[in-house]
Amino acid sequence: MNVPLDQITTITSEALAALAGVESIEELDERVASIVGKRSAFAAVQKSFGSLEPDERRTMGAQLQEARRTVEVAVESRRAQLRAAQRAAMLDADRLDLGDVVVAAQTWPVSLGHAGLVDSTQAELEDVFVAMGFTVAEGPEVESDWYNFEALNIPPAHPARGMWDTFYVDLGDPETVVLRTHTSPTQVHLMEAAVANNSLPIHSVAPGRCYRRDTPDARHLAAFHQIEGLIVDRDITFADLAGTIETFTRAYFGPDIESRLRPAFFPFTEPSAEFEVTCTICRGTGCRTCSNTGWIELGGCGMMDPAVFEAVGIDPDVWSGFAFGFGIDRCAQMKHELSDMRALVENDVRFLGQFA
Ligand code: PHE
Repeated sequence: MNVPLDQITTITSEALAALAGVESIEELDERVASIVGKRSAFAAVQKSFGSLEPDERRTMGAQLQEARRTVEVAVESRRAQLRAAQRAAMLDADRLDLGDVVVAAQTWPVSLGHAGLVDSTQAELEDVFVAMGFTVAEGPEVESDWYNFEALNIPPAHPARGMWDTFYVDLGDPETVVLRTHTSPTQVHLMEAAVANNSLPIHSVAPGRCYRRDTPDARHLAAFHQIEGLIVDRDITFADLAGTIETFTRAYFGPDIESRLRPAFFPFTEPSAEFEVTCTICRGTGCRTCSNTGWIELGGCGMMDPAVFEAVGIDPDVWSGFAFGFGIDRCAQMKHELSDMRALVENDVRFLGQFA
């Protein structure tokens, strides 16, 4: 019986069994010396070969080396196995749970997007005015100084320019091109076109985006929206203006909201008025949104100033008219009782989703 050979077979299978029981790389590192290293049965058996005959020692020594290499290879493959398992466990722990997303993707119909509150408010306002006999027009957001100011009876350096904190566009001579500060320049475009086409009278509204160098607060945005109204016809009086505003307010806000006109000044209308509604946040008692006045200004209005007619070549002895400009965002704010207008641009889906 070949005792050393049996011994080699036994310690090899014991080493492989021990290796299979190792559960982590740390444990493997700890135990590797006792499985194949200096403290292993391989080392002990090798020592015992000292008592063998030289020939037998050589043969058995070679056998032992080979068995040891087999175990060493097994150690490395176990290490690779453990590393892969550890990595998989780590990835598993880090994995995002996409279960909800998968469920949402499987739910049909998916919820579709919808118009934002400003867009839908603009559409509602247009509907109200179309029903009253107005047509809908549009004008550019980038204007020359002439359209935004000069033709509206606001000459260069006139102190009234301070009413509009203006963004200037870096184009042409300094301060000659602006982001429109109101929709009133569309009045000028409409009148010029009507003169050129000989198509007076005008009964139009023109909604669109405007820009002012304002710090956003509860009722201001630097990019906001207005809807301009312009009537140029014969024998138009302030009563027509007041009646139009009153009809609009009833139609858009309903009977619950009160409105008032207060004397004001605009260079392009005379007389001029400010159009206000009861603050819907506090119902008139005063709050942060209305700066404790109980009222919210929606816009301005007034009878066309003859100087504006003259700037575009309309005869003020034949034609008269009125104009108004309301904040669309303010209309949305008051109708939906939003205490802070900035909600309109913060893109919080919990807010937006209420107006589907
Ligand atoms: N354009 C003015 C503003 O934004 C409002 C206004 C429009 C006033 C039309 C009178 C007539 O301040």
